Amino acid sequence: MAEPIYSPGLEGVIAGETAISTIAGGLQYRGYSIEDLGEHATFEEVAYLLLYGELPTGEALTALRKRLRESASIPQALVDLLAKIPKGTAMMDIMRTGCSALAHWDPDTTDNSHDANLRKAEHLLVQLPIVMAARHRLAAGQKPVPYNPELSLAANILWMLFEKPPSERLTKAMDVSLILYAEHEYNASAFTARVVSSTLSDMHSAVTAAIGALKGPLHGGANEAVMKVLEEVGTADRAEAWIRDALAQKRRIMGFGHRVYKTGDPRAAYLRKLCQELADETGNQDMESMAETIETIVRTEKNLPPNLDWPSARLYHYMGLDVDLYTPLFVVSRVTGWSAHVIEQLDNNRLIRPRANYTGPLELKWVPIDQRK
Ligand code: CMC
Repeated sequence: MAEPIYSPGLEGVIAGETAISTIAGGLQYRGYSIEDLGEHATFEEVAYLLLYGELPTGEALTALRKRLRESASIPQALVDLLAKIPKGTAMMDIMRTGCSALAHWDPDTTDNSHDANLRKAEHLLVQLPIVMAARHRLAAGQKPVPYNPELSLAANILWMLFEKPPSERLTKAMDVSLILYAEHEYNASAFTARVVSSTLSDMHSAVTAAIGALKGPLHGGANEAVMKVLEEVGTADRAEAWIRDALAQKRRIMGFGHRVYKTGDPRAAYLRKLCQELADETGNQDMESMAETIETIVRTEKNLPPNLDWPSARLYHYMGLDVDLYTPLFVVSRVTGWSAHVIEQLDNNRLIRPRANYTGPLELKWVPIDQRK
């Protein structure tokens, strides 16, 4: 056996194989560039691509949309639970609880076959946005809005939050952001989902664990942290002083840097233009110029490019979405990638169980409790 290698944070380690996405030569889902998908696809088409391995035909897409409509509700008992969870609970904790709870009503929970996992993936794809929107409205003292069978998944997210048919422009922005967030190889949350499913656990457990991994600010939680930074800076004329001071204090600037993209995140580059257009349309040019000043200085001083969370926080702000929805929206999108990873892992499973370098003491002598100091 080869000499074991050790790399803190598994940096640079190939931990498995995947045919779902690659970052070599730009980010590609099943061989299609995210730029092409962002330009032409809807989120449903990308979900199908990730789950089934190929773009849907017209007929397959119609059938997927029909299945989503048929699963587009959550049990009343879960709605009641969402209403009772203490006020002020973080929305990511709601998503984690919601995902876990949905397992109790899914007829396929204990079936780990390929087909059952595809069914569960599709259920979660439409049910997680319903959990998100229902709790968001309940927390604001409003009634949940049922899924609208006439609308796409992206449009439904906006519909269920605002009870207003969204414009084409906002629907496209939502589609693009969901497409860009959908999948990213062996990131921390997808790896978590693979570890859980490698024990032959189930889809809901894997996705619930992945939501927990995504929540942290070094991963998905960064998009909310970015918005808090922009709010803290306030206006474009304060941006330069703020960022120079933050860098002098060695603060970690949310939305910058990436474990695998050292020269730039293609998703951030792609989203930038849409972000600027929406800023112009919604009168948010000051925030765009604040972001540009920060970006230029972080690049010059630290050689750090922005990651996807940097423009997506602003995009969501311009779309009128509350900050506590930003990371849950990442969940609603990434559930496609996580599910594809669970299915791929189980199709060719080997338990994921690495080793550790032990750094503690050895061969200590037992000390009776009354003699311990
Ligand atoms: N602000 C300031 N310095 C940074 C940042 C940052 N955002 N990111 C990296 N650095 C510095 C870091 O201090 C270190 O410097 P030094 O070598 O002088 O100690 C160097 O760059 C390498 O950083 P690292 O933390 O060892 O690199 P990593 O590969 O472990 O970090 C990262 C990747 C994403 C955790 C990190 O860049 C970071 O914390 N960024 C901010 C959080 C963020 O935006 N996360 C979203 C990631 S992308 C989308 C997603 O997964 O959701």
